[in-house]
Amino acid sequence: MQSSSILITGGLGFIFSHVTEYFTAKGWRVIVIDNLSRGSQPQIVNGTFKHYNLDVSDEAVMDVIKSENPEFVVHAAAISDVDYSIKNPHETLKKNILANINVFEACRSLPNLKKLIYVSTDEVYGECEHRKSEEEIIFPKNPYSCSKAAGSLLRIAYDNTYTSLMNKTAETRFCNVFGPRQDSAKIMSAIKRSINGEYSIPLHGEGGGYREYTYVRNIAPAIELILESGNRTYNLTSNDGFTVKDLIQKVEEVTGKKIITHPGDRPGMDMKYQMDATRIRELGWKPLYTFEEGLKEYFSTEE
Ligand SMILES: NC(=O)c1ccc[n+]([C@@H]2O[C@H](COP(=O)([O-])OP(=O)(O)OC[C@H]3O[C@@H](n4cnc5c(N)ncnc54)[C@H](O)[C@@H]3O)[C@@H](O)[C@H]2O)c1
Repeated sequence: MQSSSILITGGLGFIFSHVTEYFTAKGWRVIVIDNLSRGSQPQIVNGTFKHYNLDVSDEAVMDVIKSENPEFVVHAAAISDVDYSIKNPHETLKKNILANINVFEACRSLPNLKKLIYVSTDEVYGECEHRKSEEEIIFPKNPYSCSKAAGSLLRIAYDNTYTSLMNKTAETRFCNVFGPRQDSAKIMSAIKRSINGEYSIPLHGEGGGYREYTYVRNIAPAIELILESGNRTYNLTSNDGFTVKDLIQKVEEVTGKKIITHPGDRPGMDMKYQMDATRIRELGWKPLYTFEEGLKEYFSTEE
């Protein structure tokens, strides 16, 4: 894809710091709005892209987006931790939902806009007895996933209502992403710390929670593909699914090390997320890394 201008909210976070670097390396004009809150990686700010230290839930951000006038916008900023959202529902819902509104509002008056991607999650489906497809009902069951689902609905409403955005928006629903720079409380990161002997992992639901995993380096090319040719909602998973117990066993096999755990609890936890990825595959997405390749690279990366 030809280099252009892209504004990324949350572009200093775990996943999108990699996306920011991907587009910067390709010579794009990259603008990041990120308030340096939890999950942020301020060490990547190095002058190759523009960074605004602003809260996207603040209405002032709309003027910044308009004045930067980018061709592409990816809205990924969010309070992303489920446990935090359960302890702080008011803050999570308020900030994440207002951020969604501000970004959609600003984007509908961008004269050069080619595509807006809203970044969502498999969690919006709630319990997944089978692999959920994009057309199925969303049924979020915790404050975090509820705030993300609000954005999923707004995306449809704005695309459908405002001619300036019609067919110019898309949404991604990622499975569990893992890789370097991930918050230390997330499962793969916790496993890595446990291997290094630093940490005992709280096993929610006795380790029976089933999730699909993909390596973080699979994400930026998928975003580029959707910017170029996507205008719908896309599940993003390579369908590598495991219970936490099985995942721990797999990592013990790969690394030959023992992982320490103890019983933990998360109220109202969904036991299974799994998605159908036919749509993104038909668009042309092929993961760069298999699960095993990602695992090997991640566990051999010094952080
Ligand atoms: N990590 C996953 O496995 C996963 C899976 C599915 C979807 N997602 C979605 O992907 C996106 C990124 O997730 P992540 O795990 O990289 O998150 P993260 O918590 O590591 O990063 C979030 C970034 O957004 C910034 N941010 C948060 N609220 C903000 C606000 N109000 N204003 C400005 N900046 C703000 C933070 O400073 C941080 O840099 C999120 O939208 C999340 O819902 C993540």
